[in-house]
Amino acid sequence: MCGIVGAWLNQGGAEDIADVLIEGLRTLEYRGYDSSGIGVLRTDIGSSSSAENVKVARRQGRLENLEEVLKDGSLKGANVGVGHTRWATHGEPSDENAHPHTDGSNHIALVHNGIIENYLELRRELEADGVVFASETDTEVLTHLVGREYAKSGDLGGSLRASLRRVKGYYAVSVVGNMNGATELACARQGPPLCVATLENGAMLASDVLAVLPHTREVTYLVDGDLAILKPGEVVIETIAGEAGESVEREVTVIDWDTEAAGKSGYEHFMLKEIFEQSEVLGRAIHDRLLPTVGDVAFEGDGWTDPELNGIGRVQILACGTALHAGIVARYLIEGLARIPVEVDYASEYRYCDPVVSPGTLAVAISQSGETADTLAAMRLAQELGAQAMAICNVQGSTLTRDCGRTILTHAGPEIGVASTKAFTAQLIAAYLFALRLGRARGTIDETEGRKMIEELRHLRPKLEGLLTTDYSDHIRKIAKRHLDAKGFLFLGRGVNYPIALEGALKLKEISYVHAEGYAAGEMKHGPIALIEPALTTLVINTKGRVSDKVRSAIEQVKARKGPVIALGSDPLSAELGDDVIDVPTSSEWLSPILNVVPLQLFSYHFADLKGCDIDKPRNLAKSVTVE
Ligand code: F6R
Repeated sequence: MCGIVGAWLNQGGAEDIADVLIEGLRTLEYRGYDSSGIGVLRTDIGSSSSAENVKVARRQGRLENLEEVLKDGSLKGANVGVGHTRWATHGEPSDENAHPHTDGSNHIALVHNGIIENYLELRRELEADGVVFASETDTEVLTHLVGREYAKSGDLGGSLRASLRRVKGYYAVSVVGNMNGATELACARQGPPLCVATLENGAMLASDVLAVLPHTREVTYLVDGDLAILKPGEVVIETIAGEAGESVEREVTVIDWDTEAAGKSGYEHFMLKEIFEQSEVLGRAIHDRLLPTVGDVAFEGDGWTDPELNGIGRVQILACGTALHAGIVARYLIEGLARIPVEVDYASEYRYCDPVVSPGTLAVAISQSGETADTLAAMRLAQELGAQAMAICNVQGSTLTRDCGRTILTHAGPEIGVASTKAFTAQLIAAYLFALRLGRARGTIDETEGRKMIEELRHLRPKLEGLLTTDYSDHIRKIAKRHLDAKGFLFLGRGVNYPIALEGALKLKEISYVHAEGYAAGEMKHGPIALIEPALTTLVINTKGRVSDKVRSAIEQVKARKGPVIALGSDPLSAELGDDVIDVPTSSEWLSPILNVVPLQLFSYHFADLKGCDIDKPRNLAKSVTVE
């Protein structure tokens, strides 16, 4: 949903700001990739004065297009600037609509992530004032508002504050400007994420810590309503509210991700790398959390006490997309193991169903990024209605973790591929651990059973590693190739693997653009069976266990109608029926989703790769959906 970056480095350093901004944008490209741009200027050595106006380069398409433009060296030698990678909301992807936008006189360049809801009325007001617009974006409206104030006051931070107070909507915004020889760099947040950092010789801001990590591990997340003024070696944070803004202190977070983790490490795509990282993710997600002697788990930090867990009468899970599928698995785990009623809702629908929150409700938001607008809004409503809050989240310090307080961190590490893989498995592991903790506290799981569950979890890693081999991956690629001409796919699963069917279908459609539907296997006969024919492939997930006989009969029904079947899972009898077979080792049924999803991720990956799709940047998508 657009990535923004800004930096100011003292003159005389080895780094050119255009390179720093491009390097930052490369890590943010997952947030949007339909166009990009930078705006830069140069200050005098060691001071904030400059004789220059801002110079801007913008291009439609991927970052490479912008880099091509910059090869002429026209933006070289600068030391302060802002950059942007776009996911279009207002106006199609084009050079004109790409950010940064300028005020016409190039005193400022502004980048924005979010939506200005009252942009039309503001645009009319500015046009009446003689402003000529060069784009269709809502962002340009904000740019001219700031530009108009700045021309009067020569104070960029103050102009941004005054302009934002006229704006309805949500934003992360950054602006660089130069007026009467004085340079300023400012940013503000109301909604989408933004972090700032003081560097030894400079200062930086970005939508995601990934852009800042090569420079420092110490970052400060802005909260809604914050405005920051950056100078080399100094970041001052104030409120947007109030005539002059009030100074505020925000805590510094130390990020423990290593910068290597944000690279491809020799893999062709981030998605493949992230699939192959899943056994390490499992290791990290259970590290220091298992208490094998008492058959229980403990979470770091603000853990739950047994009486608190006993007080939970109902669990409300809120999430979107892949995280929602993890939430449905969590429902099976919590109801099955801890015997607490669980409801799972699309975060985007929760606010519109007039939800009822009964006393003793625990709302659990699941999110990789911790910045998904729908999830944040649903969680805030649940809290307003009296629910206690907990997050299962991958990004420490994200808005969700700060809103909820109590968090189980998933420890998946940075996930860059737009299609979520390792973050999903990490969410499943967190859900398993939480269900076990709940069950132990409430006495629905005794010590012996708890020990057994921990043992099974420990045995999962070698099984997972067995799936993350070149041979296994190649086998799946061959199957994907055989089904490349299928006109669509049906994914079926039952019980705790029903959500895995949903996830398999989502993964395939989002990166290969082939129609795929996930269904509960028992529902097939109630409608989707009409789709079955030789050109439609049905992929059936069947784990040896409580429902395997029932799932097998769904396979028989598909075969009776000449539908090709890929049988996936640990049920040997299903394997006998499948036209193609993807074996998965046996495990406890509760843990089987973690194993079953891996071949589904590989299937989607290879299918999309064979079709020549852009796997890490699927069309129309962006990773962190910070608009509602
Ligand atoms: C699918 C995918 C999305 C996200 C969803 C929620 O591969 O990545 O469906 O799962 O947008 O995002 P988070 O987990 O960041 O809240």
